[in-house]
Amino acid sequence: MNIKNHLDFIYKFIPASEKETERRKTQSKVIPTLFVLHGTGGNEQDLIPLARQISSEAAILSPRGKVLENGVYPRYFRRLAEGIFDIDDLKFRTNELVDFVKNASKVYGFDMHHVIAVGYSNGANIAASILLLHPEILSAAILFRAMVPLVPRVSPDLNNKYIFMSSGIYDPIVPKQDAERLADLFKKSGAKVSLYWQNSGHELVIEEVKRAKEWLLQCSP
Ligand code: MLT
Repeated sequence: MNIKNHLDFIYKFIPASEKETERRKTQSKVIPTLFVLHGTGGNEQDLIPLARQISSEAAILSPRGKVLENGVYPRYFRRLAEGIFDIDDLKFRTNELVDFVKNASKVYGFDMHHVIAVGYSNGANIAASILLLHPEILSAAILFRAMVPLVPRVSPDLNNKYIFMSSGIYDPIVPKQDAERLADLFKKSGAKVSLYWQNSGHELVIEEVKRAKEWLLQCSP
């Protein structure tokens, strides 16, 4: 069977620029792939401009969440109420997305050692779940408005993982302690975590996108 048939998500893939890839090769550097994950009610197009602001040259892989809340709003996993997740579905969907990234890397030839998640809200939560359950598929993650998606039975090995978190002081959906608890969970597992606070609610502000770009340039995982 054609491996492309295994990419059973609606998604967008944008390759890294060939010119830049060649240039980096001469410096033995690899251009990363940004694995872009939207918020509830979003789609695969939503965060592409944001990802482009964070890196103008990276490849982009952006799937649409398969779960339809109220039959209409795409999400990456089911929830029972706001902030209360269906953990069995979350685990199942996390594995499904991990397989999607692996298969996409075979189809498009990007390097699995340089995949960086960029997620907002529900997308940040499933990216956090990937870090906690399958850290091997991400080298870094940029998480806007993430909360603790689940607490794994076995502590993951997050050594050499770089995690940028950006949270809103007035976020009515993600309480401050929840974002801090997630940062602690990552740190205890060995990750290098930078948590930034925004003078905002659940919505994104332009400063944090600039901050994410600077952070990525500095950590260059
Ligand atoms: C979630 O369900 O992942 C969080 O509550 C964020 C949201 O999508 O509203």
